[in-house]
Amino acid sequence: MSEQLDIITGAFSYTGREIARQLLPTGHTVKTLTRRGLSESPFGDRVQPLPLNFEDPPALAASLEGAHTLYNTYWVRFAHGDVEFSDAVRNTTVLIEAALAAGVRRFVHVSITKPHSAPSLPYFKGKALLEETLIASGLSYGIVRPTVVFGRGDVFINNVAWILRHFPFVGIPGDGQYGIQPVHVDDVARIAVELGATSENLIRDAAGPETFTWDEFVAVIGAGIGCVRPLVHVPVPVALAMAKAIGVLVHDVVVNRQELAGLMANLVVSDLPPSGEIRLTEWIRDHAETLGQTYSSELNRNFRRPSSPWDDLTHSTPTPKPS
Ligand SMILES: NC(=O)c1ccc[n+]([C@@H]2O[C@H](COP(=O)([O-])OP(=O)(O)OC[C@H]3O[C@@H](n4cnc5c(N)ncnc54)[C@H](OP(=O)(O)O)[C@@H]3O)[C@@H](O)[C@H]2O)c1
Repeated sequence: MSEQLDIITGAFSYTGREIARQLLPTGHTVKTLTRRGLSESPFGDRVQPLPLNFEDPPALAASLEGAHTLYNTYWVRFAHGDVEFSDAVRNTTVLIEAALAAGVRRFVHVSITKPHSAPSLPYFKGKALLEETLIASGLSYGIVRPTVVFGRGDVFINNVAWILRHFPFVGIPGDGQYGIQPVHVDDVARIAVELGATSENLIRDAAGPETFTWDEFVAVIGAGIGCVRPLVHVPVPVALAMAKAIGVLVHDVVVNRQELAGLMANLVVSDLPPSGEIRLTEWIRDHAETLGQTYSSELNRNFRRPSSPWDDLTHSTPTPKPS
């Protein structure tokens, strides 16, 4: 009998990489839909890249042919340049339709906590819409709803640490009493893989065992890396202006108005018992030397990409030979 084929969007990136790391030892064949070529693979040729090309749905469906489970991590963190959230919604809808056309047996989709709680925030609104689209599609589905993810390759928490290392104080938007319940990327991947192994339609929050107020969260990171700084509470527009100024310095979007609104509305805290096991405080202790030493740029990672190995493809999507 042939091995089960699972396909992951983004197996060379952040959450998708950990899903691949957990699937490979199970003996499944793992392929990835990505903009990245084998040169960016942390798995050598054990994970074959295929083009993440939403402009060619038949080719996308052909890439998914024979897959048992599709793990979808594709999304955009914010609208930037000519990339809009509506593009990410449309592209994910194309992916769901391609999975249906290809006869994929199970679709595990990575969403966000409380997607239906913030219809005015495009990130959450788009995620809510896609959950509904997937549920209505008739595909067998598992939906993972992470809070804020930390771990190997982390951007967000690393950059809070970077700010703590580089500035004499930290500006806290508002009263700093809104919550954050970070979840380790390995826990998110474990929950995704568990959902991939069943056939029941299920939705699971992925939230860590520790919940902090934002004040506590920044203080915990500061204490963990040995950079305790005064927390200065400022109005949201001032906090955004500070973030923008830092953004100019590092050529990135540090945090934007909508992300802050989601955070301050307690949307990255789960109402359910924690499903994650790895504690942020312990992880910080284990990574205190390296956390925040260099800034991690979301724009460099996902928006200012060097040309893709698939750029020459028009309508055909040949499978690259592993080197
Ligand atoms: N990170 C968090 O704290 C967090 C929290 C809650 C929910 N989530 C959800 O978890 C999922 C994975 O997030 P992640 O942080 O692990 O993302 P990621 O690995 O950086 O990216 C996931 C996938 O989306 C693609 N992608 C990202 N930005 C893109 C852009 N600007 N244009 C085109 N493609 C883009 C990546 O393409 P490549 O394969 O080419 O890299 C990859 O396939 C997402 O659905 C996200 O909404 C994340």
